[in-house]
Amino acid sequence: MIKRNEEINYKELNELLSSIGWGINPLSKLEQSIDLSWGWITARDANDKLVGFVQILSDGIKHAYILRMLVHKDYQGNEIGKRMMKELMEMLEEEKLNPILITKPTEESFYKKFGFKREDNGFISLFKWD
Ligand SMILES: CC(C)(COP(=O)(O)OP(=O)(O)OC[C@H]1O[C@@H](n2cnc3c(N)ncnc32)[C@H](O)[C@@H]1OP(=O)(O)O)[C@@H](O)C(=O)NCCC(=O)NCCS
Repeated sequence: MIKRNEEINYKELNELLSSIGWGINPLSKLEQSIDLSWGWITARDANDKLVGFVQILSDGIKHAYILRMLVHKDYQGNEIGKRMMKELMEMLEEEKLNPILITKPTEESFYKKFGFKREDNGFISLFKWD
C-alpha cells in the first residue's frame, strides 16, 4: 500500500534506511529532518511492514527536492519504486511543484521513466561537498 504523509515511526523508518546503509544516527536527527519535510510517501507490504520511502523538501511554491528514495533491498524489483514514483509525481503535479533530485548515474534510467532528465536549459548544479 502506498500512502502520502502517513504518521512516521522513526525507529521503523531508520531500520528501512539501514537496510541499504542509509541509517541515521542519532535517531533524533531523522525525526528533525522529517519534521522539516514538505511531505513523504511510504510503501507497506501486506503485513504492514514499511518497505519503501521517499522524502520531499519544498518551499511549497515552486521547488521540491527529492531525497531518500528507497525500497528495502529484499523488496526491490517488484514495482514498488515505480508505484511510489507515480504517487510522488501526482502529488507534486497537484501542487505545481517542480521536482529536483541528485542521484548516481547508475540510477538515471530509473528516473528517466518518470520524465526526469539532465538539465539542458543552461542551469548548472553547484556543490560544496567534503
Ligand atoms: C532505485 C529503487 C528505488 C527502485 O525501486 P524498485 O522497487 O526496485 O524498482 P521497480 O521494481 O519499481 O522498477 C521500475 C523500473 O525501474 C527499473 N529499475 C529498478 N531499479 C533500477 C536502478 N537502480 N537503476 C535503473 N533502473 C532501475 C526496473 O528495471 C523497472 O524497469 P521497467 O519498468 O522497464 O521494467 C531501488 O532499487 C532502491 O531503493 N535502490 C537503492 C537506493 C537508491 O539507489 N535510490 C536512488 C538514488 S537516491
